[in-house]
Amino acid sequence: MASITIRNLDDEVKDLLRRLAAENDRSMEEQARVMIRAAVEGQLGPSGRIDRIEETLRELAVARSPAAPVVAVVSKTLSRGSLSGKRILLIIGGGIAAYKALDLIRRLRERGAAVRVVMTSAAQEFVTTLSVGALSADHVFTELFDRNDEHDVGHIRLSREADLLVVAPATADLMAKLANGHASDLASTVLLATDKKVLLAPAMNPKMWSHAATRRNRATLAKDGIAFVGPAKGEMAESNEAGEGRMAEPLEIVAVIEAMLDSKPRPLSGRRIIVTSGPTHEPIDPVRYIANRSSGKQGHAIAAALATLGADVQLVSGPVSIADPAGVATTHVETASEMKAAVESLLPADAAVFVAAVADWRTANLAGEKIKKVAGEGPPALQMVENPDVLAGVGHHRKRPGLVVGFAAETQDLIANAEAKLKKKGADFIVANDVSHESGVGPTGVMGGDRNKVRIVSKSGVEEWPEMTKDEVAARLAALIAERLKTIVV
Ligand code: CTP
Repeated sequence: MASITIRNLDDEVKDLLRRLAAENDRSMEEQARVMIRAAVEGQLGPSGRIDRIEETLRELAVARSPAAPVVAVVSKTLSRGSLSGKRILLIIGGGIAAYKALDLIRRLRERGAAVRVVMTSAAQEFVTTLSVGALSADHVFTELFDRNDEHDVGHIRLSREADLLVVAPATADLMAKLANGHASDLASTVLLATDKKVLLAPAMNPKMWSHAATRRNRATLAKDGIAFVGPAKGEMAESNEAGEGRMAEPLEIVAVIEAMLDSKPRPLSGRRIIVTSGPTHEPIDPVRYIANRSSGKQGHAIAAALATLGADVQLVSGPVSIADPAGVATTHVETASEMKAAVESLLPADAAVFVAAVADWRTANLAGEKIKKVAGEGPPALQMVENPDVLAGVGHHRKRPGLVVGFAAETQDLIANAEAKLKKKGADFIVANDVSHESGVGPTGVMGGDRNKVRIVSKSGVEEWPEMTKDEVAARLAALIAERLKTIVV
């Protein structure tokens, strides 16, 4: 084997080697040799060049340094073998987040999964097939037709010989191709040819993520039954860029994969449930809007609890500052009208839960320009019109789900108001909560806080639940929904 001079490696790689060598009780040279051998055995054929080794070590270094080492250690001890025997086809798209795919491969393999990787040509600009092959211990597939490649198994076999297809990072381009049925390279062809579940972990610039075209593609893919994890909000690789678009962390992706591949039947397996959450924002002019104090915590917790019970959850969320729940397909909207359109496009469903605090009114005439103060004229008189009622629309819809659950946020006459809403909106039951500051729930009250105290109001009476955390309310409500759905035949 050619020699490699540790002194010539850059600091990051040296640090990694030092740490790994100490962990494994080896010299740094020995550690480097072990890692290089792994790379060679996994991928490096006769054409492999020694000048790629430093690059390989650097990429392996990134994959070896998880953001949260404690979480990594804990999850490692808890979940070893949770994916044993499962075959995952990982498609790596071209984006800066591709480096996280290396860690994802490790996480999946340490849980017992076999990971086979397809890389787009753009992905190869960010990580090398050499590193990916070393970590996956398999051939890395890159070409749609490769007559010279003895490993070429064809796209149909690639997609069929897997239990789950995962795209991480899923770029705007890959999403567009899949949403429109393109088969122009190996990755898109494999995605089109598969009859297995597909999970996308999008990663892109926030402006690309919020672009109307990407949102359209996202909605189409969710409708086609494609699952999503992330993206999260945060700093982007580009300077001065922050927003929604960061790829979910590898451990989050693993949690969703574990849930998707869990073969034990769960109470809501096979059930599709729509959940609305958060506030809506109703614009007044390009810079101002009408909003309310809803944080989305209760709705997001319910979506997550339903997913834990195995449901295919379609969450439609207004603008919130909390992350999308893992294992749930989330559609982001701003206004009540957008929420209604998104919810109705997701029908049919087995159940729908309306937790969102939808604004009752919007301005009649949205100002195209910022409304200016004019001396002597006083404040503008805002003309308001009523928003569509999303819950009532679905409660009386021809594709009405078998179970429709509403919420009633009240500051007075809780039960009477909830009973009136039950009838008017065509719900099966209403989860009523007192959102007054006198509710006695937490220092901030129910809205924005972490606790809730609810009553379940239905035709058969009122059931009072004790004060609990929003997560506990969510778990109990998910169990109640599972119970009710058992008696509903579809
Ligand atoms: N809701 C909805 N669309 C609206 C208003 C409310 O889907 N435009 C849903 C909420 O998600 C909730 C239920 O209807 O499930 C009751 O919401 P709430 O705000 O308590 O009632 P409103 O109908 O808005 O009545 P009011 O504000 O007069 O109490």
